[in-house]
Amino acid sequence: MVNPLRLIVGLSGASGIIYGIRMLEVLHDLDIETDLVMTGMADKMVEIETGWKSDEVRGLATRCHDNNDFTSVLASGGYRNTGMVVLPCSMKTVAGIACGFADNLLLRAADCTLKERRPLVLVPRETPLNVIQLKNMLTLAEAGVTILPAAPGFYHKPKQISDLVDHVVGKALDIFGVDHHLYKRWREDI
Ligand SMILES: Cc1cc2nc3c(=O)[nH]c(=O)nc-3n(C[C@H](O)[C@H](O)[C@H](O)COP(=O)(O)O)c2cc1C
Repeated sequence: MVNPLRLIVGLSGASGIIYGIRMLEVLHDLDIETDLVMTGMADKMVEIETGWKSDEVRGLATRCHDNNDFTSVLASGGYRNTGMVVLPCSMKTVAGIACGFADNLLLRAADCTLKERRPLVLVPRETPLNVIQLKNMLTLAEAGVTILPAAPGFYHKPKQISDLVDHVVGKALDIFGVDHHLYKRWREDI
């Protein structure tokens, strides 16, 4: 573990790119160091689903890495970091990590996170799921990965989309022990 925290954040080309953007925003506001790697389709999803520009998203990270650059520090397990979160995580990226097919930097960084036994959190977004996708996620869970579906709860009485987004982002941050108030925990006021 690195103290203070330093998180690798991967954004891939699934729907729900706002989860990744919000994660970067929160970590930025908390002064937590981030290493960002975005796939080409993640860039496209920023354009398709949000009013953000890719450069503005990259501006939220401490450091940005080119997804094709295998000379990046993220390609080495020796790079000191707290762990990695991929959100949203496409089924293609799930498959790549599950079978160790590290043909881009995001996949290689996830591979390194696993081999160094650091926490890896994937936030998949797909529905419905086929058997291959489910098997890939089981393989990952058996390897110690946290599969944290982009499936917000409703018990905190969300009023707007951002409340739903914050619930998922908050659950992912919980895995890394990051202190936050993104959602109201069940009966936390008791
Ligand atoms: C509008 C749109 C929405 C998509 N939504 C998803 C999705 O929710 N989940 C998913 O696994 N793939 C989704 N895809 C397909 C991925 O972008 C595609 O499989 C791509 O190869 C993922 O590559 P990456 O993981 O390297 O970003 C979507 C594609 C488009 C154009």
